[in-house]
Amino acid sequence: MSDTAAQPVALVTGAGKGIGRYLVERLAQAGYRVFGCSRKPVDWSLPGYEHVSADVSDEAQVRGLFSAIRERAGRLDVTINNAGVASMNHFLLTPASTLDKLHAINVRGTFLVTRESVRLMRARQFGRIVNLSTIAVPLSLGGEAAYVATKSAVEALTRVTSRELAPFGITVNAVAPTPIDTDLIRSVPADKIQALVDQLAIKRLGQPEDVFNVVRFFIQPESSYITGQVIYLGGPL
Ligand SMILES: NC(=O)c1ccc[n+]([C@@H]2O[C@H](COP(=O)([O-])OP(=O)(O)OC[C@H]3O[C@@H](n4cnc5c(N)ncnc54)[C@H](OP(=O)(O)O)[C@@H]3O)[C@@H](O)[C@H]2O)c1
Repeated sequence: MSDTAAQPVALVTGAGKGIGRYLVERLAQAGYRVFGCSRKPVDWSLPGYEHVSADVSDEAQVRGLFSAIRERAGRLDVTINNAGVASMNHFLLTPASTLDKLHAINVRGTFLVTRESVRLMRARQFGRIVNLSTIAVPLSLGGEAAYVATKSAVEALTRVTSRELAPFGITVNAVAPTPIDTDLIRSVPADKIQALVDQLAIKRLGQPEDVFNVVRFFIQPESSYITGQVIYLGGPL
């Protein structure tokens, strides 16, 4: 796509590594001009990709991120609310500060980035927002009370915003991955991951491509009648 004005624009939060970085690469390959953010700068580059250092839980930094997108691209078609953090600990041993941190990034971050995205998307009466949940929600996974609570809130935000944003031609959906080998789960003991995989219909770890496959489906213009949905990977739970 050589016509810059006609090139669709995507934003991926938490783009520095893991699933987010993979989504950046696949969206760029698919012809999107891609913006991404993470708190730390990145030591890699990609044609068609622009990185902005921003913490999604910080309202001023989120506004700065969207000023950059507005000035440089002037439009936004797709937002992937991928930035997220997890914590595994028995409920009784979880400090309140852990809940606050997870809530700030997973819930407040999704809330702020969605709100600013809509301000850009509604001008063209088109938008696709995809949030990241987890299969830990329907599994009510022990040891992940804070994480599951925040991702349950992300699913609730997905449903409510899907109703409120439908009149602007904006859909909001979520993809909920199984364990995928990234830094997010590296501190989780192997036997705990295996026990999780054993509960899946399809008994393997997820791959970033499994996430992109659902993202690609949600963001295509033809998916205009699909909103407020959560797709769980790996089978029924
Ligand atoms: N991996 C899994 O097994 C799995 C399973 C289910 C769901 N998920 C979800 O998938 C998403 C991505 O996970 P992942 O496994 O790719 O994690 P990851 O490898 O730990 O990467 C997370 C990315 O998010 C960025 N980030 C963290 N806090 C941020 C903040 N406040 N503002 C902006 N960026 C921030 C990180 O960069 P900085 O630290 O530099 O900010 C990093 O680039 C998360 O929402 C996670 O809950 C993952």
